Amino acid sequence: LPALALLGVIGYLLGSIPFGMVLAKVMGLGNLRDIGSGNIGATNVLRTGNKLAAALTLVLDGGKGVVAVLAARAAGGEDLAQIAGLMAMIGHCYPVWLRFAGGKGVATFLGIVLALAFPVGVGCCLAWLAGAFATRISSMGALVASVAAVPLAFLLGFPVAVSLLILLGALIFWRHRGNIARIRTGTEPKIGQKK
Ligand code: G3P
Repeated sequence: LPALALLGVIGYLLGSIPFGMVLAKVMGLGNLRDIGSGNIGATNVLRTGNKLAAALTLVLDGGKGVVAVLAARAAGGEDLAQIAGLMAMIGHCYPVWLRFAGGKGVATFLGIVLALAFPVGVGCCLAWLAGAFATRISSMGALVASVAAVPLAFLLGFPVAVSLLILLGALIFWRHRGNIARIRTGTEPKIGQKK
């Protein structure tokens, strides 16, 4: 049990690093809270106009999910890998450093699923691309990708716990409730639009 608690804490702390916020500050792009949606993720970093910073945010926020899962798997196997992934996701959405006001978990979710079950993760990334390109709305990509995870796991032969995928998907929907309200009223900004 102590090993489990330790891995959970490490996963949480890894997930709680707000790479978008740090990069925006370091690269002189300003405070993300004052930009676009105010979110700390790659989509909002892109609204600063700096594509490199946005790409780095995507890779690093995804990477922390990957690292949490792979490290826990190496230390204790598949069950621990799933728990560490969940904790990284919670860390990203509710980081202690930002008074628990974190991100929406999309990049971290994709990293976690890629590391847990690579084909399912690839499928989720494709679902994100399909949803986002069809609508030009980043949050639509996120919602489509999170809904696609469970059917993809079934189709590809179940390499990851469905209950975890449902939990992660539910958390993504919960974190996107503002986006969902804007999608419904037709006011959600398109990718490449400043606000
Ligand atoms: O990754 C979060 C994305 O789905 C929505 O971001 O800034 O448009 O709320 P944002």
